Amino acid sequence: STVPSEMKGLAPTKKLPFHLQSSHTRLLIKNGTVVNADKMEEMDVYIEDGIIKQVGKNMILPGGTRTIDAKSMYVMPGGIDPHTHLEFEFMGDKSADDFYTGTKAAVAGGTTMIIDFAIPQKDESLIQAYMKYRKLADTKVCCDYGLHIGITSWSDNVKNEMSDLCKMYGINSFKFFLAYKDMFMINDEEMYHCLETCKELGAIAMVHAENGTLIKENTKKLLKEGITGPEGHEKSRPEEVEAEAVFRACVFANQVKCPLYIVHVMSRSAGSVLANKRRENMQQDSKIPIFGETLAAALGTYWKPHICISYSDAAAHVLGPPLRPDPSTPIELMKLLGTGDLQVVGSDNCTFNVKQKAAGIGDFSKIPNGVNGVEDRMSIVWEKGVSSGILDPTQFVAVTSTNVAKIFNIYPKKGCVGVGSDADIIIWDPKKTRKISTKTHHQAVDYNIFEGTLCHGVAEYVIVKGRICVEEGEVKPTLSRGQGEYVQTPVFPPIAYPEAAPVIEIPKNLEDDLFLNVEDDVNYELGD
Ligand code: URP
Ligand code: ZN
Ligand code: ZN
Ligand code: ZN
Repeated sequence: STVPSEMKGLAPTKKLPFHLQSSHTRLLIKNGTVVNADKMEEMDVYIEDGIIKQVGKNMILPGGTRTIDAKSMYVMPGGIDPHTHLEFEFMGDKSADDFYTGTKAAVAGGTTMIIDFAIPQKDESLIQAYMKYRKLADTKVCCDYGLHIGITSWSDNVKNEMSDLCKMYGINSFKFFLAYKDMFMINDEEMYHCLETCKELGAIAMVHAENGTLIKENTKKLLKEGITGPEGHEKSRPEEVEAEAVFRACVFANQVKCPLYIVHVMSRSAGSVLANKRRENMQQDSKIPIFGETLAAALGTYWKPHICISYSDAAAHVLGPPLRPDPSTPIELMKLLGTGDLQVVGSDNCTFNVKQKAAGIGDFSKIPNGVNGVEDRMSIVWEKGVSSGILDPTQFVAVTSTNVAKIFNIYPKKGCVGVGSDADIIIWDPKKTRKISTKTHHQAVDYNIFEGTLCHGVAEYVIVKGRICVEEGEVKPTLSRGQGEYVQTPVFPPIAYPEAAPVIEIPKNLEDDLFLNVEDDVNYELGD
């Protein structure tokens, strides 16, 4: 085959599409209960070349089909984690899990797609940040992934780049920060323009809702008073500091009529502000949707006083917004998922090793913020949600997968066990248990905030684009870096922009061909 001249020296040949690399392209999942966000039914699922081809009973199938018996197990869409930070350069360090270990851990736990954040520094170009993340991720990911883009400053150039990202690069979501003053924070006027632009483009505005000015002032005061340990982190940003920013973001979004997505809702106060605003909006003609995401961390643990005894345990639990000392927080947030007031669970996986977390000894404001969750999110939601009786299995699917796919406009390609959907499927054994531990997790980080939690519900099989990647609970050695692909997220998701819903053709990524298999572990020839 001929290599275009501009590609010479970059990579000789294109990687064979992932589904064709598999020796098992035909797969039948028999006797299981298929769970989607709207119903559960006993059905068989037939997969060919990475796509679900039939769902039904007594199907007529070609020979050479491998069969998995899913008797007394749930067959569900693989999890989609809407919120990760893999190899994220942040607070003077870089998160410990990269796109390989992070997505491998995701798959191990039953998540078959992640959406990470490309966050530019204040003076960095958005497109460059996007390119940088594509280059980091494409060669490493074990499952499909998408990107949100961070908005950390405002200018005409930022606005133009947002438009280019939506029109040419498959981006439909932008996260801005009301916290991290002097680093990522934008002010109210900038938020206004950012929301206006998202609305114009048909994008989802995502907000980190905490008041950065209050955090900064409170932090100075606490440090001066001698409160320097990790407990100072939550004290510098108590619940109302989160709730205020949630309220403000909702009001701004309403004024601009822009669909809003509040990331990492971590407290009862913030959850209740969000739920009220959302319900209010649903009763109005304009019906501006507000989506709310909480985290596995907030559902699976809280700021337990005994954690504060040792610096390293306490620091490992530091993220923003923080875990709350109120022990009723996890169950109350789970109830909001049950009532539909919150729609999504992410992980905000942003891991730092014990050594990295030590940067904040003597000054809590220097603890790199972030926790694990990409691997354990599914088990935590099942254990705390389904096993406890707050969610049924269809709601589990909704909050861990389908709602994410709908909000970021990749449904029903993702988030659905249905004909034509990608074969990203988990076979979940609700009777099997596992105890979460750093010793057995697949993440690179040396700490796990869910250590010792016994979870009912184990991903017995995880099928990524038709390929079995976890078998009988074990990650297969054939799971390989770079086997996932970047997934474009088209603008105007019908769930957020019901009135718009124009048919938008996203052109093929301009830079797609630059992302050849640079690592060239194995280079296959595509037949010409
Ligand atoms: O503490 C956190 N959440 N770290 C990741 C960055 C962010 O704000 O999501
Ligand atoms: Zn085999
Ligand atoms: Zn955030
Ligand atoms: Zn985050």
